[in-house]
Amino acid sequence: MSPRSDTCKIVQSAPTDAVALARVHSTAFERPWSNEEFTNLLSAAGVCGWHVTQAPNNSLSGFVLTRRAADEAEILTLVIEPSFRRLGLARSLVQQALKDLADNAVAAVLLEVAADNHAALSLYKALGFAEVGRRKDYYGSVTGRQTDALILRCDLEAVKPV
Ligand SMILES: CC(C)(COP(=O)(O)OP(=O)(O)OC[C@H]1O[C@@H](n2cnc3c(N)ncnc32)[C@H](O)[C@@H]1OP(=O)(O)O)[C@@H](O)C(=O)NCCC(=O)NCCS
Repeated sequence: MSPRSDTCKIVQSAPTDAVALARVHSTAFERPWSNEEFTNLLSAAGVCGWHVTQAPNNSLSGFVLTRRAADEAEILTLVIEPSFRRLGLARSLVQQALKDLADNAVAAVLLEVAADNHAALSLYKALGFAEVGRRKDYYGSVTGRQTDALILRCDLEAVKPV
């Protein structure tokens, strides 16, 4: 399902969105990033955030953060609030981020994702990302369980984001 354009919209994030981004981030990760971390990231050179807001009150339901260095960029994080998942919001956000990076002469985008994160892997592979590396036992959980990180790469010239 595609997100309905009359009820949600994608906008570029600003440091003033830090509290809302931190709230959504905390719905997905064991070690949530603080308001201050988001403020600093969104103020940093090369970092760009896109988030989706929902009508009628423009509440923020998901976001993606990228960081650019020369002609490469990385996806720092991507989260959709649980009650808004499987509506195509992550796909739309990542497509927006990739288009913006391609328009700004970025050639390739990299990211790290847990090897057991099937939802994210399926999304990224559908958008043209391919596995280029693996970091063994990279992520540790509070239960002590270790998970590999996969490194994915997308060559923007090859996928030509629209
Ligand atoms: C991964 C995540 C961002 C996906 O967000 P979403 O808005 O639900 O994803 P979309 O609706 O745009 O889905 C796009 C595609 O991704 C894949 N996908 C998404 N969720 C999936 C799931 N639970 N199981 C399998 N595939 C899934 C599917 O291919 C889907 O296409 P389809 O709906 O046509 O089958 C969301 O589940 C999330 O926030 N997870 C927690 C944080 C996280 O893991 N972030 C990524 C690592 S940094």
